[in-house]
Amino acid sequence: MQKVAELYRGKAKTVYTTEDPDLLVLEFRNDTSALDGERIEQFDRKGMVNNKFNYFIMSKLEEAGIPTQMVRLLSDTEVLVKKLEMVPVECVIRNRAAGSLVRRLGVKEGMELSPPLFDLFLKNDAMHDPMINESYCTTFGWVNESNLARMKELTYKANDVLKKLFDDAGLILVDFKLEFGLFKGEIVLGDEFSPDGSRLWDKTTLNKMDKDRFRQSLGGLIEAYEEVAHRLGINLD
Ligand code: TMP
Repeated sequence: MQKVAELYRGKAKTVYTTEDPDLLVLEFRNDTSALDGERIEQFDRKGMVNNKFNYFIMSKLEEAGIPTQMVRLLSDTEVLVKKLEMVPVECVIRNRAAGSLVRRLGVKEGMELSPPLFDLFLKNDAMHDPMINESYCTTFGWVNESNLARMKELTYKANDVLKKLFDDAGLILVDFKLEFGLFKGEIVLGDEFSPDGSRLWDKTTLNKMDKDRFRQSLGGLIEAYEEVAHRLGINLD
């Protein structure tokens, strides 16, 4: 499937149209951003690692009955996907306290959250992705109640699948973000799942193996992503 035209350039991916109006190509670039895109750096191999990582995770979620936009891998850095009408709301699950939850509530990083927390954020860089709740979605017309309920159900289901997958690889799934869209009226998982949009800690050392290495200038970003991929059995060659 050939790329026809650039449709949208995001912070880490570029989206292209194809000859088929229902299909798009996502290209994973080497860019890594923090602070809502104010800080951007390039890392060799990152586009390839995240593309293969995302494809692997999405395939596991699809096998577990979660509809995803994946069609097939096209190259090291490109994947063919269904074209979704994206919902501008991010779904976050937190199994442990970290990041904005720690800043907002002053709880201790690493605190176990049982049952896990479910948060919603508006996708809006200019407003720094503000936290919202269910009633905002209907009032502002971002997504209707039944579609939001489906997004929440699928996010919890993804958590069950992924918590186990990462645990078996010696990792703690601390938290993660998912984005959904509509394909022919159905809620479908879109965007990506990678260490850019999740927190993954080593089970024994509690070392951070995700984008917090970049956010907190800890170094070794790609090495950590590759180690996670290796532990999951993802072939990066
Ligand atoms: P937070 O601690 O900044 O609220 O983020 C929680 C998780 O969701 C973390 O794994 C990062 C991810 N996330 C994104 O990838 N993009 C976003 O815009 C937001 C709000 C969260």
